[in-house]
Amino acid sequence: MKKDVIGLGLLGLGTVGTGVVQVLRDNAHEIDRKVGASLKIKKALVHNAGKKRPGLEDLELVTDIDAIVSDPDIDIVIELMGGTEPAKEYMLKAMAAGKSVVTANKDVVAQFGLEMFAAAAENHVDFLFEASVGGGIPIITPFKQCLTANRFTEVMGIVNGTTNYMLTKMTEAGMDYDVVLKEAQAEGYAEADPTADVGGFDAARKAAILASLAFNTHITLEDVAVEGITDVSAVDIEYAKKLDYVVKLLAIARRVEGKGIDVRVHPTFLTKDHPLASVNGVFNAIFVRGNAIGDAMFYGRGAGGRPTASAVIADVVEAARGILTDSRGRINPEFFEPKQLCPLDETESRYYMRLRMDDRPGVLGSVATAFGWAGVSLKSVLQRHVDDSAEVVIVTHTVKHSSMVAATQAVAALPGNAKVCSVIRVDKSLETE
Ligand code: NAP
Ligand code: HSE
Repeated sequence: MKKDVIGLGLLGLGTVGTGVVQVLRDNAHEIDRKVGASLKIKKALVHNAGKKRPGLEDLELVTDIDAIVSDPDIDIVIELMGGTEPAKEYMLKAMAAGKSVVTANKDVVAQFGLEMFAAAAENHVDFLFEASVGGGIPIITPFKQCLTANRFTEVMGIVNGTTNYMLTKMTEAGMDYDVVLKEAQAEGYAEADPTADVGGFDAARKAAILASLAFNTHITLEDVAVEGITDVSAVDIEYAKKLDYVVKLLAIARRVEGKGIDVRVHPTFLTKDHPLASVNGVFNAIFVRGNAIGDAMFYGRGAGGRPTASAVIADVVEAARGILTDSRGRINPEFFEPKQLCPLDETESRYYMRLRMDDRPGVLGSVATAFGWAGVSLKSVLQRHVDDSAEVVIVTHTVKHSSMVAATQAVAALPGNAKVCSVIRVDKSLETE
């Protein structure tokens, strides 16, 4: 279709929406040349039209979605509001009106991806979501296009900028959890409700999207075992350092032969020489293992207005090319195999446990007996006297999750006021048993 101008409708003008406007302005000449037409923001939907928006005064603001979906000059709708509703309803309306949709919304893609892909196919439009995982890092398009020849066995990464920023500052500067969370919010990295970040749910949604693409199936948030960083204390970070590890919130999706797909998000002790151990601050990285490419890693800024705008605009350019060449919906991911999940109890890992109990003779022996009873063998044990108690730190050999749960219950039931303070998985990919 011949067009000189591709009209854009923005839904949301917050951190990412503002980044999109800025980058489109700064790089207009180059972007328009690459598209072969001029990209023009026609209207922006906001919640509060009265809010001061320095530098954005020339945009036409609206508060009614119909002003955008019924505008024939808008070809592409860019959803940057967040949350499932009304974002999902607005995107479906836009597609029903024949507009391609670009979004950074992992909540909608992770939970309702199938419905959105079907709507895109039915309406012969694009539904693109590069920015939903890894901020500015190209990872969705590589899965859909560049890596499509592979059968994957593993995807593992740091996919939440807020928590990686927090863990880095807590590790390197000994900063307080609440202080660093406020910093991450001020930088615009955190979700509107930051419990999605620190609780691990944002990373879990991204893990569901990555696992769905990597394993050609439909994984949702409910399929992901999730632990966040809320229970990771400064004490555990110090022990990690002593034991030569760093603590990272990892998203892991693996094909376990004969058992199914194992998808998890949890804090992990990583050896310092692991490639993901040096991914710090707001940076994210996604490591993939395919049977043709072998190992590959994607690295970059995982959050923030301009980095995320980079991914959003890449999708807008792709959608614009689809309009100009009458080839919309070319790479909608629509091939799904039946889902088979590996039960959490069957997953295997090494574990770190920190516990406190009364400091009296036989403490270590009783702890070792409890682990032995659960069939968990110990790799290393540390004990020190803290605040009138014995603090015991254990690293196990590789065990099934169910055995570690049994060991944790057995230790917690020991006499002598035993209290399990933390249990964190230890990555073993670079270590020998
Ligand atoms: P944000 O700063 O909170 O901005 C949200 C924008 O959406 C605001 O402009 C708000 O309007 C508007 N909005 C919210 N609800 C609305 C409603 N019901 N009707 C009309 N407008 C509404 O959010 P953000 O950080 O830019 O994130 C946007 C999306 O990108 C989310 O899906 C997020 O997960 C994703 N994302 C964010 C980042 C990041 O680094 N921040 C990175 C990757 C992906 P007002 O301005 O009037 O309040
Ligand atoms: N809150 C998200 C993060 C934004 O911190 O990674 C990017 O998706």
